[in-house]
Parts: sequence; C-alpha cells; structure tokens
Amino acid sequence: MAGVVCVGAQWGDEGKGKVVDLLTERADVVVRFQGGNNAGHTLVVAGVQTVLHLVPSGVLHEGKTCVIGNGVVVDPEVLLHEIESLQARGLLKDPRRLAVSGQAHVILDVHKRIDRAREQYLPRKIGTTGRGIGPAYEDKVARRGLRMQDMLKAQWPDLLRERIASVNTYLTGMGAPSITGAELEEMIARTRRHAQALRDHVTDTVFLLDQARRAGKNILFEGAQGTFLDVDHGTYPYVTSSNTVAGAACAGAGVGPTAIQRVVAVSKAYTTRVGEGPFPTELHDAMGQRLRETGAEFGATTGRPRRCGWLDLVALRRAVCLSGADALVVTKLDILSGIGPLPVAVAYEVDGKRVTEFPTDTDDVTRARPVYREHPGFDGELRGARTLAELPPNARAYVEMMASELGVKLALVSVGAGRGEEIMLDPVF
Ligand code: GDP
Ligand code: IMO
Ligand code: MG
Repeated sequence: MAGVVCVGAQWGDEGKGKVVDLLTERADVVVRFQGGNNAGHTLVVAGVQTVLHLVPSGVLHEGKTCVIGNGVVVDPEVLLHEIESLQARGLLKDPRRLAVSGQAHVILDVHKRIDRAREQYLPRKIGTTGRGIGPAYEDKVARRGLRMQDMLKAQWPDLLRERIASVNTYLTGMGAPSITGAELEEMIARTRRHAQALRDHVTDTVFLLDQARRAGKNILFEGAQGTFLDVDHGTYPYVTSSNTVAGAACAGAGVGPTAIQRVVAVSKAYTTRVGEGPFPTELHDAMGQRLRETGAEFGATTGRPRRCGWLDLVALRRAVCLSGADALVVTKLDILSGIGPLPVAVAYEVDGKRVTEFPTDTDDVTRARPVYREHPGFDGELRGARTLAELPPNARAYVEMMASELGVKLALVSVGAGRGEEIMLDPVF
C-alpha cells in the first residue's frame, strides 16, 4: 500500500489532470481533497479531450475508485452534469466507482450569487472563478454550512429556507438583488432532485479510504489549484479559499500523515496565472502573447486568457518546501521549443535588496523584480520523445536543472497534452 499526493507547484493549471491520469495506472483509488469546481483538469486520451471539475482525474481508468473527500465543496448540479456526461460516454456505470463524502459542504446558488456580486459590486477584485467556492468555505468555517448528507434529509427545505433568509440580508447590504420566494421554492425543488440523483454516491469516504488502506491499495490524492493559491501560503488575499498544499490531503480526505509516502509537485516549464494578484515573472510583451498562443493558455473552467511568464525558481523552491515534495513533474516543455535563450528567475530584487526566499508579504511579492539567469534554448519537435536522451540536449539540461535546483527527483517530463506524450522516469507508486 502507498499513498501519493499530487499538487500544483505554481498558480494552478500546471497539468495535474494529465499527471493524475497517468499515475492512476498504478493506483486503486483517486481522491480529490479540497477545492471545488473552480478546478478544471484536462485529460487528452486518444485525441479525445475531457475536462473534469469535480470528478477525480482517475475516472477514465475502468475499475478504479474515485472519491470526492470531505474537504471538497460540491456544487450538486455541476457534479450531476459531470457524472451524466461521463455516463453518456459509457463511463462510471457503477455508482460505487464514485464516492462522495456526506461531510463535503454543498455549494448553493446563493454562494455563487455572493461570489459574483462581490466581483461586481466591491472595489477589490480577486478574479475568482465565480463558482461560489469562497462563500461556501466561509459558511463551513462559520459553522452554518450545509453538507451533502443534509441534502438527503427530510428537513432539507427548512435548512435551506433558514440559510437563504440570512443571505438575503447580506446581498441587499451590498446593493445586490435578493433571492425571491419563488426562486427559493424553485431552488428547494431542484436541489431535492439533485439529492435523489446523487444519493447512491454519498457515503462515509473516511471509512472507504481506511478499508482501502488496510487492504493494501494504492491511493492517489489529487490536488486542485496550486501552491500560491493556498489560503495560508499563497499570495493572500489573491488566493482561493482552501489549503492547496500536500498537507491538506490529510484533513481533506480524512487520513493521517502516515498514509502518505510521496509527494509529487507539478510545474509547467514556464509560469501561468489566472485572475488577479502578483506574478513576478509575468511577461506583458509579445513573448507573453506567444506563450499564451502556443501553450493554448486559456482557462479550462472560465475560458479566461491565462497570464504567462518565465519559470520562477524562487517560487518553486518554496512550493517544494511547503508540500515536502520529493518528486517533480515538468509539463509543457514542448511549448518552449524555438524560444531562446530562456530566462529563469533565480532571485528577486525587493526595494534594491536581493532575496532568494519567496516573500511572505504579498506587498513584497508585488514589488519583487525577478533576477534572471539565462538558460540556452532548444528547437524542434519534442512530442515524440520518450526518454531524456531523445530530447534536444538543452531541453534535457533545462529539466535536469529544475530538478537539481529544487533538490527533488525528476519523475516525469510531459511533452504534449495527450496521454503517452511524456517521458516517464519514476511512476511513483
Ligand atoms: P490542471 O488544472 O493542473 O489539471 O491543468 P489544466 O488542464 O487546467 O491546464 C493544462 C493544459 O495543458 C491542458 O489543456 C492540458 O491538456 C495541457 N497540457 C498538459 N501537459 C501538456 C504538455 O506537456 N504539453 C502541452 N502542449 N500541453 C499540455
Ligand atoms: P486548477 O485545479 C487556476 C484562481 C482564480 C482566482 C483565485 C480565486 O484547474 O489548477 P476561486 O474561484 O477559487 O475563489 O478563485 O483562484 N483559481 C484557479 N486558477 N487553476 C485553478 O484550478 C484555479 N482555481 C481557482 O482564477 O484567481
Ligand atoms: Mg486547470
């Protein structure tokens, strides 16, 4: 039995979906432990693209169990839609293959309303995905949230009515329209239908994972978002509302630290970010545009163009430290082909001082000017490479430089979006 956590080492969209799909080959159970449908994880198998927002990225492997843990916030409508579209493709026929924690908090319509109203009416914008993630986690921590198991109860309409009454006060205070009685009744009817349809999936996932662990199964924990979107460790307040670092897998799935043996950090060969917030190596020029176009850097959830920039070793070192990563996955190396030389941030300058540690104060990150070291570029088609030796020498040197700078073992180098377009060095399980 082994437990492996896979997390994003940057600001999300590192290619975790593809990596989890690959690592599932040797896993028995794949678990999401935080975030919600703010995530968009893309898998490309035999030319067919699948974008998953809530269902774990192991789902394309028949016979593996997928778990949505207690730490996830679940939009029942989105989950149902995702299940139905997978079923329409002949997947997930057996409801036992997808287990959803009864303790996972529910994202209600009102959470989405509040999320969007804040982005529209309040002066400071985070650039959220508008999926209600923050407000749902706020209710959870404030001890007034509703959980998946509550949806199955006879008193669900009363629980919902009670919640909406206090939310309306908040919405009107912001200048946003409140929820009408008719809307509330429609919401009750709709969520009742969702509850019926999801009933067979809702279970005690802590027990399920414990059974799997005792039976010697391999468990893969799938992180969403990325290290610098972590609510504690990220560029606060320009973050998401959950802990995204590897340690969050324990509380968010209900396992102890002894259930985890390895941690995989996933990084692009360059950097991207969606939404607001500081990004020291961001490129505002034609090169940024080129990375966005060549890398198809548009959000898998909202379609927003991603901000693009050079690789940032200062940030990555911090990410490896925060998650205790011992394995590195580099994705999208192919996108850097034809560009050269390649600047890589090795330090920042903050108010004239050189710093090599990622600042804890977001104001300092905002003022940080990257100090670059140039790495020789490389050319040619990389997508066919299956061994490091098949890469152009400078491309190989680039990924080996990343692993050595970060002090972690290189586990995988991805050279294309498709399953199979990678160099597998260490399957981690
Ligand atoms: P995630 O949120 O971390 O799962 O990443 P996303 O799916 O949001 O974004 C990563 C994008 O890059 C997706 O469109 C993937 O299909 C694509 N991708 C992943 N690895 C590679 C790669 O090595 N090369 C290329 N060209 N695309 C990749
Ligand atoms: P995956 O799992 C990239 C960003 C949003 C915004 C901030 C807060 O696909 O890597 P939220 O809706 O969570 O309150 O938004 O976090 N964000 C992501 N950026 N990838 C993601 O997920 C993200 N999930 C949230 O753009 O800046
Ligand atoms: Mg994504």
